Amino acid sequence: MIKEYIFGKPFETYAVVDRTGIITEVANEDVAKRIGFKKDEADRALSPYGGITWDDSEYVMTYAVDMGKDDIVYGLGENIRGINKRGWIYESKCSDDPIHDEFKSSLYGAHNFIMMSGEEVYGLFIDYPGRVIWDIGYSHINKMQVLVCSENFKLYVINSEVADKKEQYRDIIKQFRKMIGQSYVAPRWAFGFQQSRWGYQNQGDIEAVVENYRKNNIPIDAVYMDIDYMERFKDFTIDSEKFPAFEKFVSKMKKQHIHLVPIIDAGVKIEEGYDTYEEGVKKNYFCKEEDGNNFVAGVWPGRVHFPDFLNAQARDWFGNGYKVLLDAGIDGFWNDMNEPALFYSEKHLKEAFDEIETYKDKNLDIDTFFRLGNIVRGLGNNLGDYKSFYHRATQPEGEVLVRHDHVHNIYGYNMTRAASDAFKRLVPDKNILMFSRASYIGMHRYGGIWTGDNYSWWSHILLLLKMLPSLNMCGFMYIGADMGGFGGNVTEDLLMRWTELSMFVPLMRNHAAAGTRNQELYRFTDTEAFARLVNIRYALIPYIYSEYMKAVANNDMMYIPLSFEYPCDKYAVNAEDQMLVGESIMIAPVYTQNATGRYVYLPENMTMVRIRAVNDYELTECKAGHHYVDVALDEVVFFIREGHALPLAGSGQYVDDIDAGEVTLLRAEGSNADYELIWD
Ligand code: GLC
Repeated sequence: MIKEYIFGKPFETYAVVDRTGIITEVANEDVAKRIGFKKDEADRALSPYGGITWDDSEYVMTYAVDMGKDDIVYGLGENIRGINKRGWIYESKCSDDPIHDEFKSSLYGAHNFIMMSGEEVYGLFIDYPGRVIWDIGYSHINKMQVLVCSENFKLYVINSEVADKKEQYRDIIKQFRKMIGQSYVAPRWAFGFQQSRWGYQNQGDIEAVVENYRKNNIPIDAVYMDIDYMERFKDFTIDSEKFPAFEKFVSKMKKQHIHLVPIIDAGVKIEEGYDTYEEGVKKNYFCKEEDGNNFVAGVWPGRVHFPDFLNAQARDWFGNGYKVLLDAGIDGFWNDMNEPALFYSEKHLKEAFDEIETYKDKNLDIDTFFRLGNIVRGLGNNLGDYKSFYHRATQPEGEVLVRHDHVHNIYGYNMTRAASDAFKRLVPDKNILMFSRASYIGMHRYGGIWTGDNYSWWSHILLLLKMLPSLNMCGFMYIGADMGGFGGNVTEDLLMRWTELSMFVPLMRNHAAAGTRNQELYRFTDTEAFARLVNIRYALIPYIYSEYMKAVANNDMMYIPLSFEYPCDKYAVNAEDQMLVGESIMIAPVYTQNATGRYVYLPENMTMVRIRAVNDYELTECKAGHHYVDVALDEVVFFIREGHALPLAGSGQYVDDIDAGEVTLLRAEGSNADYELIWD
């Protein structure tokens, strides 16, 4: 059962699309009291909210509940920390911040859905596109306080009528997912291995990558084009010196079964004669400052305007921009810098220079020296800047002027919606790959996400694992992290262990930042091992794709924490480094450097698969309980659940090369478990 409480006059985010069965109550004072809402001045003053800064003019409503000591809070989608979100404070604020460490409170997405598992199990969704703070046992260890910085929002409480806890979890998720609409389905080729790097400059760079992968028998389906393919970082342009005959190049790559996937950034370069810029200005499609001028920010190309993605006409216009690349044969894109990320605003930059000028020739002391640094550091993604521009948002009642910070979290969502709507208009018969960096619940219908600029840190292998189920809960199914890590220098063993997890994840893309060590799989000593591992991935694609398709169709999760399936087993409930992937298998990746194995907990009897290559594996029956399992650096160990089967194909050099009709079913000895394969 879903109850909707409406507070004030909420902004329509279009997160909720299926209203069947929703019981609506206007949240008058009475209701507010009943569900624990109060205007919360006192708590606000008391709470030492770490890195989160308050603006006292923000109106805050708090939802406060006591948590029993064993209660678990799941959810919040793309985020730091555990599967169990207790013990930290999170802020829903799409943020361009590459340091994903424990002290952060936000990443690129804002996903306001949690599921509380205590005496009662229920889901809570806050549909508000501005700031929401989730203090889950941070200020008070046994208290959850959700602070909504507005008096206009919707809150949904989802309960389940089924008695069994295990069924309740999935029932609540399914009800929520049904309400927010079916998730985006990526094309099948996008389940293949993909290579990216910020720094590939031209056709020659890309060809060399493809050649090296093919030469080393490492399967691959796509190569990414980062910002350097554009002409001076202008959206919907191609640098003709670097790509003299782009269309021909795209088709040459296609013949080699390689899809090229260009990046599109949110900011549009200000440059006379650049059609996208000129048209946007002429038609008033950019975000405005209070005085009606177009807001000016700095991103890759220097000065840019931000398209007003909240406006339906601006969305249509920007969406049409993709046509030039679609026409050239491109069938996949990634939308970036759409929080929107800004290096500076023109106004703020001027103020900063003026202030810095006053520091010249001064004796900089403890205060002034740090202040000086903060002036520059504070330029990027500045809250004051987000408060200084406006959208002409298309709402059911017509066009509404709204200040950006109140709708910040749906900017990237609407950029992706613009793209997806355009694909349906422009190439209705094609399924285009689309994923985004910034996101909000609702965007899951239009594309997937990648988890942004992570690092080549061992902890980030585990972070990816922990995010998978919470992303699924929020509808995001086509997901993945930069394999090997984006920032920093990767090591061969880190990349290998990461490959061994990413092979179970829909978006398996190796991506790295400019200036870091080369990270393509053929750059390392044991290229042959990487080839074996990626071939295993391709043998697993029929399973991964089938489970993905089933989860999408059933509004279900593909990555299931052990606690969902075995809620009465205390070891399973605490497992944060193992995961059920689909109906048949459990994975337990190695994420520690120099480890030659790990402890694995089996909540039931399972069949262990130790696999080194597509035709080189053995199965061992294991009893429920704790095990220490050896896992050599170049092999993968995972487990098949009792009564289930895993289809293993014969690999392929690209997805269309996989013969899904020829699969071997791996299952327990004597089992006749079957498997329903989806390969359309
Ligand atoms: C952002 C993206 C990253 C990309 C870079 C250059 O940092 O998150 O993936 O490589 O921009 O476009």
